Amino acid sequence: MSSLDQIVSPIVGDLKDVENILTENTASEYSFVDMAVQHVVEGGGKRLRPILVLLSAKTVGYQGVDAHTLAAVVELIHVASLVHDDVLDEAAIRRGRETLQTKWGNKVAVLVGDYLHARVLSMLVARRSDDPAMAILADTTQAMCEGEVIHAYKSGDFDISEEEYLKIISFKTGKLITASCTLGAQLGTKDQQQIDALTAYGQQIGTAFQIVDDLLDFVEAPEKLGKNAYGDLREGKLTYPIIHTRKVCNDDEKQTLEKVLNPNTDENEAILAVESLFRKYEVEPHCLNVAQDYANSAKEALTTLPTSDAKTALENLADYVVSRDT
Ligand code: IPE
Ligand code: IPE
Ligand code: MG
Ligand code: MG
Repeated sequence: MSSLDQIVSPIVGDLKDVENILTENTASEYSFVDMAVQHVVEGGGKRLRPILVLLSAKTVGYQGVDAHTLAAVVELIHVASLVHDDVLDEAAIRRGRETLQTKWGNKVAVLVGDYLHARVLSMLVARRSDDPAMAILADTTQAMCEGEVIHAYKSGDFDISEEEYLKIISFKTGKLITASCTLGAQLGTKDQQQIDALTAYGQQIGTAFQIVDDLLDFVEAPEKLGKNAYGDLREGKLTYPIIHTRKVCNDDEKQTLEKVLNPNTDENEAILAVESLFRKYEVEPHCLNVAQDYANSAKEALTTLPTSDAKTALENLADYVVSRDT
């Protein structure tokens, strides 16, 4: 099993360039704005989406530097979505740091998210007007927001089905991950089959990624995650592990689950109840198996592409998405 550091070894230099582009393109002449923006832009994170742009581009033989710019753009869209998501989810910690709204309040957080989208616009208008990246990123940002809106709207709906939920996560998380792969592919090839292969890869790992994210919220130590544990439960937010448990448990247990999601229920009581149901129905291994199936489909989507270090890295990345603890 490869660590993320091992996986990205073929693109370490490229990732450094991406960091520089991120810093340069988000700087503000107003010191408070700059401080708030850099708090979230330089604040760690796995840089998964930039990694996908760079590896997808390399897999189809691209060697230029435009991948660095697009990698920075997708990361900025991602960071903007996290900043706004943390306002929605009332999250206190992100990437091991206080969230913007914890430090400076909701108003600052909302506006910094908007600022980042403005920076994205500015980076995109500097591109050729017939560049397909613009339309892809416009559609992607729209779909990501639609996914977040629908999830927020449905968050208290105890009857949401697994199919509905999978559709929501394919929008709120999957679209940007998929776009990262498509954009990288398009830089290096006009062969639609190759672009489709990398797009399909992105769709599959996108779903695996969010299922594992949902699981980690219940099972991983907050110091590792860099965000508070049981955040979704505290918010009464239904996510994949709970939706699955509700499907397989008996009627009494369903009532317990519904109570657990009620924000008035004592948090420790709720956690104990969920842990006991997760043990009984082996929810953790189930989620990991489902995510691994998506990861395997992702790897399969790559089979027609020529062998290379970058392609091997993408295959390992699919497994990493499932085995990760952060
Ligand atoms: C978190 O994404 C939000 C989801 C889509 C689940 P990441 O887990 O990629 O967050 P960072 O970028 O590493 O902080
Ligand atoms: C958010 O999903 C996905 C986004 C598009 C931002 P989550 O709410 O599960 O992400 P975390 O757990 O806060 O990182
Ligand atoms: Mg969240
Ligand atoms: Mg989450």
